[in-house]
Amino acid sequence: MENQVTIFDHPLISHKISILRNAATGSKEFRELVAEIAMLMGYEALRDLPTEYVEVKTPITTTKSKMLTAKKIAIVPILRAGLGMVEGILSLVPTAKVGHIGLYRDEETLEPQEYYCKLPTDIDKAQVILLDPMLATGGSAVAAVDFIKARGCKNIKFMSLIAAPEGVKRLTEAHPDIQLYCACLDEKLNENGYIVPGLGDAGDRIFGTK
Ligand code: PRP
Ligand code: URA
Repeated sequence: MENQVTIFDHPLISHKISILRNAATGSKEFRELVAEIAMLMGYEALRDLPTEYVEVKTPITTTKSKMLTAKKIAIVPILRAGLGMVEGILSLVPTAKVGHIGLYRDEETLEPQEYYCKLPTDIDKAQVILLDPMLATGGSAVAAVDFIKARGCKNIKFMSLIAAPEGVKRLTEAHPDIQLYCACLDEKLNENGYIVPGLGDAGDRIFGTK
């Protein structure tokens, strides 16, 4: 599991996560921080994207220099809260396609319920980057990876801002072949399935719905 999971330990990310956790942080700042943290994480999570040498004519000479290969990249946020991370990753790979998977947790059972799924047609050939700020029980993440794999995808990275140990265990056991990136690993889940200490309900805080 160690090689499959990256937990970020970086002062810039930790600082921004602390502001996110603060119940007094309003939606505008919260949204901005989610996008910024996603971008900082993406810089590392995308370090294995394939490159190729191209010939470039500089003002001085002609040289061979690396550029990203044309491999397709598909960013797939889990609605709603994953939407907050899209801008940060798109700022790194602006030509990426964006698909959407709509899931919400049933408040009683905590099991994910699907309500929307629209993915790029050629997603089976893409490097998929699944986004959801919260990995709690792991039910939503496992269901989202199931959908994507059912469409033939093999290369999947999952990025979350805050993860509970329970969610990391469930996702890595269900899908040992995907790469998981978490800005931070919290202590546990509470009796309502919320991450402790966490940051509350990410969707509500991003969209100001509570
Ligand atoms: C939150 C979060 C994840 C899910 C995590 O979404 O954004 O999708 O809960 O919980 P899990 O790991 O236990 O499945 P929520 O269901 O609250 O929907 P929302 O984004 O529409 O608010
Ligand atoms: N979903 C959230 O938004 N927050 C949690 O703590 C758990 C699930």
